[in-house]
Amino acid sequence: MVQQATVQKTTELYRGKAKTVYHTSDADKLILHFRNDTSAFDGERIEQLARKGMVNNKFNFFIMQALEQAGIPTQVEALLSDDEVLVKKLDMIPVECVVRNFAAGSLVKRLGVEEGQALTPPTFELFLKNDALHDPMINESHAVSFGWASSEQLQQMKALTLRVNEVLSAMFDDAGMLLVDFKLEFGVFQGNIVLGDEFSPDGCRLWDKATRKKLDKDRFRQGLGGVVEAYEEVAQRLGVILD
Ligand code: TMP
Repeated sequence: MVQQATVQKTTELYRGKAKTVYHTSDADKLILHFRNDTSAFDGERIEQLARKGMVNNKFNFFIMQALEQAGIPTQVEALLSDDEVLVKKLDMIPVECVVRNFAAGSLVKRLGVEEGQALTPPTFELFLKNDALHDPMINESHAVSFGWASSEQLQQMKALTLRVNEVLSAMFDDAGMLLVDFKLEFGVFQGNIVLGDEFSPDGCRLWDKATRKKLDKDRFRQGLGGVVEAYEEVAQRLGVILD
């Protein structure tokens, strides 16, 4: 992960809810710009939270480096600035992989189970990335029949997601936190499945192990306040250098 000062940002490729993706002078590389925008309910509510872009960019870079060290291929190449990272250009698969270690969020709503119930073994779910349809849950058969991913790709995505869960559950546990659940997105680079998008408190649930205080985007979704302060606490506990 060496700084690649020669790659220049060119035109905007895509503006998502929290990140903007830019083309670069290298056709195989993109720049992700982490913005302060924070969205919930599929973009229905959006607010700017000061420092969030910087915190999530540095947090994501730290996590992706740890995953690379654990043998998981990621798109991350180099940290470029406070809120920008250089990444490989993947052909993204429009299927989100979610692992849950404890019941929360949509699982609690869907199945009427108690929030916080431990899930053994962890559950694995697929969702279609489609805000207009509110990211509906899908299964492997849908993904294959509609051509969103092949069986082999889905098998690799599941194995990598469960491995990410092992690595990160241990890391958060050591820092006094429970990794409740998280979402990953994958893409294809030169024929191989590679972890893309981001891993940050915007796309996972983290609770303090002792008090079960929420330290993730549920603070925003549920209007609990102290959103970026919680993200910074998570980063600080893991040893991410922010300033
Ligand atoms: P859920 O409980 O709303 O299904 O979400 C499970 C986890 O996945 C939670 O940590 C939030 C994350 N997630 C996203 O970040 N974006 C998404 O579009 C979805 C469906 C889940």
